[in-house]
Amino acid sequence: MANLLCCLSLLYAIAAAASLVAAADQRSTMEALQKELSVPLWKPSGSGCCSWRGVTCDPAAGSVERIELPRQGLRGDISAVAGLKSLRLLDLSSNYFQGPVPPSLGELSGLEYLDLSSNRFRGPIPPSLGGLRSLRALNLSGNSLTGEIPAGLKDLRQLEELQVSDNGLVGRLPDWLGGLARLRVLSAYENRLLGGIPERLGSVSPLRVLNLHSNRLQGPIPGSVFASGKLEVLVLTANGLGGSIPESIGSCGGLLSVRIGNNRLVGSIPSSIGNASGLAYFEADDNLLSGPIPAAFARCSNLTLLNLASNRLTGVVPPELGGLRNLQELIVSGNSLAGGIPEPLLLCRNLSKLDLSNNRLNGSLPGNLCSASSRLQFLLLDRNSIGGPIPPGIGSCARLLELQLGSNRLTGDIPPEIGRIKNLQISLNLSFNGLRGPLPRELGKLDKLVTLDVSNNRLSGSMPPEIKGMLSLITVNFSNNRLSGQVPVFAPFQKSPPSSFSGNRLLCGEPLSSPCEAYVVSDGGDMNRRSSSYKMILAVIGSGLTVFLTVSVVVVLFMLREKEEMNAKAAAAASAAGDVAVVPSPMIVASNVFVGSMRQAIDFDSVVRATFRDSNKLASGTFSTVYKAVMPSGLVLYVKRLKSVDRTVVHHQNKMVRELERLGNLCHANLMRPIGYVIYEEVALLLHRHMPNGTLAQFLHERPPGEFRPDWPTRLDVAIGVSEGLAFLHQVATIHLDISSSNIFLDAQLNALIGEIEISKLLDPSKGTASISAVAGSFGYIPPEYAYTMQVTAPGNVYSFGVVLLEILTTRLPVDEVFGEGVDLVKWVHSASGRGETPEQIMDARLSTVSFAWRKQMLATLKIAMLCTDRTPAKRPMMKKVLEMLVEAKQT
Ligand SMILES: *[C@@H]1O[C@H](CO)[C@@H](O)[C@H](O)[C@H]1NC(C)=O
Ligand SMILES: *[C@@H]1O[C@H](CO)[C@@H](O)[C@H](O)[C@H]1NC(C)=O
Ligand SMILES: *[C@@H]1O[C@H](CO)[C@@H](O)[C@H](O)[C@H]1NC(C)=O
Ligand SMILES: *[C@@H]1O[C@H](CO)[C@@H](O)[C@H](O)[C@H]1NC(C)=O
Ligand SMILES: *[C@@H]1O[C@H](CO)[C@@H](O)[C@H](O)[C@H]1NC(C)=O
Ligand SMILES: *[C@@H]1O[C@H](CO)[C@@H](O)[C@H](O)[C@H]1NC(C)=O
Ligand SMILES: *[C@@H]1O[C@H](CO)[C@@H](O)[C@H](O)[C@H]1NC(C)=O
Repeated sequence: MANLLCCLSLLYAIAAAASLVAAADQRSTMEALQKELSVPLWKPSGSGCCSWRGVTCDPAAGSVERIELPRQGLRGDISAVAGLKSLRLLDLSSNYFQGPVPPSLGELSGLEYLDLSSNRFRGPIPPSLGGLRSLRALNLSGNSLTGEIPAGLKDLRQLEELQVSDNGLVGRLPDWLGGLARLRVLSAYENRLLGGIPERLGSVSPLRVLNLHSNRLQGPIPGSVFASGKLEVLVLTANGLGGSIPESIGSCGGLLSVRIGNNRLVGSIPSSIGNASGLAYFEADDNLLSGPIPAAFARCSNLTLLNLASNRLTGVVPPELGGLRNLQELIVSGNSLAGGIPEPLLLCRNLSKLDLSNNRLNGSLPGNLCSASSRLQFLLLDRNSIGGPIPPGIGSCARLLELQLGSNRLTGDIPPEIGRIKNLQISLNLSFNGLRGPLPRELGKLDKLVTLDVSNNRLSGSMPPEIKGMLSLITVNFSNNRLSGQVPVFAPFQKSPPSSFSGNRLLCGEPLSSPCEAYVVSDGGDMNRRSSSYKMILAVIGSGLTVFLTVSVVVVLFMLREKEEMNAKAAAAASAAGDVAVVPSPMIVASNVFVGSMRQAIDFDSVVRATFRDSNKLASGTFSTVYKAVMPSGLVLYVKRLKSVDRTVVHHQNKMVRELERLGNLCHANLMRPIGYVIYEEVALLLHRHMPNGTLAQFLHERPPGEFRPDWPTRLDVAIGVSEGLAFLHQVATIHLDISSSNIFLDAQLNALIGEIEISKLLDPSKGTASISAVAGSFGYIPPEYAYTMQVTAPGNVYSFGVVLLEILTTRLPVDEVFGEGVDLVKWVHSASGRGETPEQIMDARLSTVSFAWRKQMLATLKIAMLCTDRTPAKRPMMKKVLEMLVEAKQT
């Protein structure tokens, strides 16, 4: 008994000694790592490394089991990690690690999860990683790894997920991948892999995701990948794969997404696809597929996108597809499809894109093309053999952005109802048909349209003056018709090449070389000419300064755009010579200061000249460039030079002056109101008070390390100020077009002022004055719905404000490569809980760890930011509510 006890205590002592040695090893390893990587908040402390950020230990043994430090901006040598023998999980993704993947990592025989993705590792994958006998997930994607996938990895018998995408790997996909009995995810896209997909791949494992796109793979898609029936995602786009789509694809009831476009697949699409009833995306464009489109697709009731463009498909577009209530895009252009346009398709209420172009469709356009609730945005039917008239029902397609009907056999008149498609922006193309009659005056209502092509028809009569309502036109083609009379004097027309109007024997005037006077003179028109110039003088005298201003500005803008370049050159030369005074001051057309007390202190010539010096340039935004101008009186101003590239600003120059004066009177402490303007030649300058603390973006992101960072209460006050300004704007029915931290200015007292409100007013798209190219917003702040609606809305503003809130909370940029490919700040924050991250790991720890009160306020603010950036516009709170919630957060 005593012996036994003695024995036990000896064993215990040995074990304790061993664990002491191990603990000492671990401490020195962790301290070595801490020195090497200088992880923020990794501090040597009494409590040991188990309390360090991102480190988790076994509670009993005290040994480090998990290290999770993604997106920390880390660099350095990680080979010492191999000393942590108990490590089970290592996530160092999205950092700046360089050089080879340390072969020593292969010694971690207990490691189950290794994520080194999105770093800058180079060289080959070390074969020693085959020593990771317990590994279940390996992620090396998004590095610069080269060489082949090493044979040594075939010993990773436990592997469930293998991700090596987006590297420079070469060679073949090894056959042993087919023997990994647990493989669920294989992702090796964007490499330079050759050869075939391993024949047995998936035959012994429950393969769920296979993503090999953008390689140089050849040979067939092996039926084995569908064998387990578990496949959900298949992405093989952009390879050189041949053969046909295996019949067994139908055995995968859970298949969600199939993307096999841009290969050399032949044969027909198996009808068994209808058994994959959960299918949401099917994309097989740019192949050599033949035979009919299986009507069985209609059984995939969740189908959202079906793209079979550029194949050799024949037969009809199955009317059964009309039953797909979730279908949003049907793209079958560039095949040999025949028959009529299947009317049931037009009943797919969610359909936004219907592309049947470049086929052999005949029949006529259905009378009820669009129902009242139609969401159709793209209707592309060009290059077919569609006959008959354009039905008046086309006017119900209220959401259309693009209508392509060119190269068909359409006859009859262009229906005036076409003017009801107010959203038409991208293109209206009716060319190469047999259309007759006059151009309807209602075309003039399409004031967002950029491209209009009605060439090669039999249109007749004169061009209606109302057509000048098409304010956004850039490309036009009226050629080869029977139009007559004068080409209306309208900048987009006169700026077009003559070929836009040629082939109309009786059409005259610029840009054609046949002047209209020729006809007038022939019937004794000296009188005519005199009377017309007489009329002009009368008109000028009669209409006063307003019209004169508009005319001069518009004329100057369109006719003398070259002059802008000359001016710029002169200015550049002058500033290069360091002598601005030699540049003669341009003629100021109009100017005003709204604030009486400032009138004396502002000299308009000095304002203009300040913008000639590059050294005065402070910032360049989406719509303007900002300069600093020092007045002779000593007053410092912000001068904003509008990038007058947008026609709409020009057409509304008058409106602009009125709006500016209105805005100048708009009183709110959080709006940066213009205090005046100067218009000279083709340039508009807006005057603002100088903002000594710059923009919020500079304030948050452009401070040298160590310098004062705005503390939390200051940040919260800025957020409240901005929300007040924005709530006020929404109250007076004004939508801001470009909310971003670069458009929020801070005055001497750090009060927040929202800038660029005048631009918002001038380009307000809901007023129909903005063309598609004009509305932009800033990258990272644009609400997701904008891609479909092209409209900036109040909920859209709330979203952009939510992004600003997240910037304030995290001190991170809205778009940054550290978030990973295709991930912006919003996505990064919203996916945090999915990654198992706590709010503390998202919020700027330099603030949230200062005091309990700050942390509580920050958590409340984070909740608000999450609401504001909801994907669904209707779920976002109104700005007024946001303001209330922020004030409440401040009181917690
Ligand atoms: C890397 O791959 C693993 C395993 O497939 C996965 O769980 C992880 O999310 C990936 N990491 C990133 C940053 O995508
Ligand atoms: C598709 O489903 C039907 C009935 O559910 C079944 O008879 C048929 O064998 C299935 N086809 C394939 C290829 O799995
Ligand atoms: C369609 O999608 C919904 C929601 O994702 C899902 O619940 C449903 O099961 C799917 N339908 C089929 C047939 O798989
Ligand atoms: C359109 O799709 C949405 C989901 O994307 C769905 O909720 C809605 O029911 C669909 N509309 C129709 C008419 O089926
Ligand atoms: C349309 O084409 C089919 C053959 O592709 C033909 O049978 C049919 O008569 C044509 N219909 C019209 C209206 O031309
Ligand atoms: C209009 O459509 C025709 C035929 O599809 C095409 O050739 C032409 O380039 C299109 N016009 C414009 C301006 O895109
Ligand atoms: C207008 O169409 C004609 C005939 O299709 C073509 O030759 C010409 O280049 C086009 N002009 C412009 C400006 O696109």
